[in-house]
Amino acid sequence: MRLYIREMLDGQRTPHISFHTPGHKRSGEDITELGYSDSLLTPTGVLLAAERDVAEILRARRSFLLTDGSTCGIFSMLYALKLRGVRSLAFPVSSHRSVYNACRALGLEPVLIPQEVREGIPRQPTEEALSAAAERADALLLTSPDYYGFLAPMSVAKEICRIHAKPLVIDGAHGSHLHFTDMYAGNFADMWVDGVHKSLPALTQGAVVSCKAEAWEGPLTEGVKTFRTTSPSYPIMASVEEAVKFPRNEDIERAAEAFKRAFGAVRNDDWTKILILFGEHADGAQRALEESGVYPEFNDGNYLLFYLSPCTKESELELLGEILKGLSRGTRIGAGRIPIYSEGV
Ligand SMILES: Cc1ncc(COP(=O)(O)O)c(C=O)c1O
Repeated sequence: MRLYIREMLDGQRTPHISFHTPGHKRSGEDITELGYSDSLLTPTGVLLAAERDVAEILRARRSFLLTDGSTCGIFSMLYALKLRGVRSLAFPVSSHRSVYNACRALGLEPVLIPQEVREGIPRQPTEEALSAAAERADALLLTSPDYYGFLAPMSVAKEICRIHAKPLVIDGAHGSHLHFTDMYAGNFADMWVDGVHKSLPALTQGAVVSCKAEAWEGPLTEGVKTFRTTSPSYPIMASVEEAVKFPRNEDIERAAEAFKRAFGAVRNDDWTKILILFGEHADGAQRALEESGVYPEFNDGNYLLFYLSPCTKESELELLGEILKGLSRGTRIGAGRIPIYSEGV
């Protein structure tokens, strides 16, 4: 997509003089929907090609590029559920606020799935909790991986949903990098969202929402049409396409796992999330790191989370390791401050 747009803008095919939005008139590839650049609502050209490529890579029946974050994908999926008659949705208490907000906006009854908080970390729901939830609600939503790097019990959930004939949707805001693996949300869910901008090299807000089967294509299309912007950003869309096509970086995956072992990080499931307990020293550790120009993803009062991607350099991990060696590590204090993103816990 980017190459094509560049060629058009550089006048290699025709001159390009902007009498259209955006108001800056010409800044990089930030154009709008023009004759040659396709329309995201009814794509037939370069955007259709990008969405098809993305769907093929993600093993989806249909994928939609989003420039409004995973939040838009979650609203779209829940809207699709509602169109198919779902009235109540079960989801873990620590789900992202967009899940709560979408339920509120769409009039879906939330059925909260309890989670054990162990060592200050909200854990993925148990099989028993999922079974009970599937009996009470019309559909199930899980987050995988979660903010702390734990995978949801997706194959268990898929089987429970199959038995109860309930749809399963997955919030994969933190899991796009898993599309290379069998731990990918798309292997289990009817519909799922990829927060491409979080764990793959896409611009902030770049995301994808997908469905597995034809039956969900119509409702999800309606959902996306209802919630996504009518002024999609081309730089974001191009970056999402490129990020999904970005090659796997197994060197950094191995380096991350070795780092976790060497520094006693929490044994979670996701190489991109290095979770280290600092306890009463968490705030001091964050300050010291930031003074050295190193910014963690979050500090929940107990743990600092270091968020990696295929673009993280091994030299950056080495620098982090050097600084960590000089920092005090404490013991857990209370439940900690569960990260801001959830309003449930
Ligand atoms: C688990 C989870 N789901 C959804 C979202 C929403 O993603 P976005 O900020 O891309 O809209 C977030 C954001 O942090 C999140 O952590």
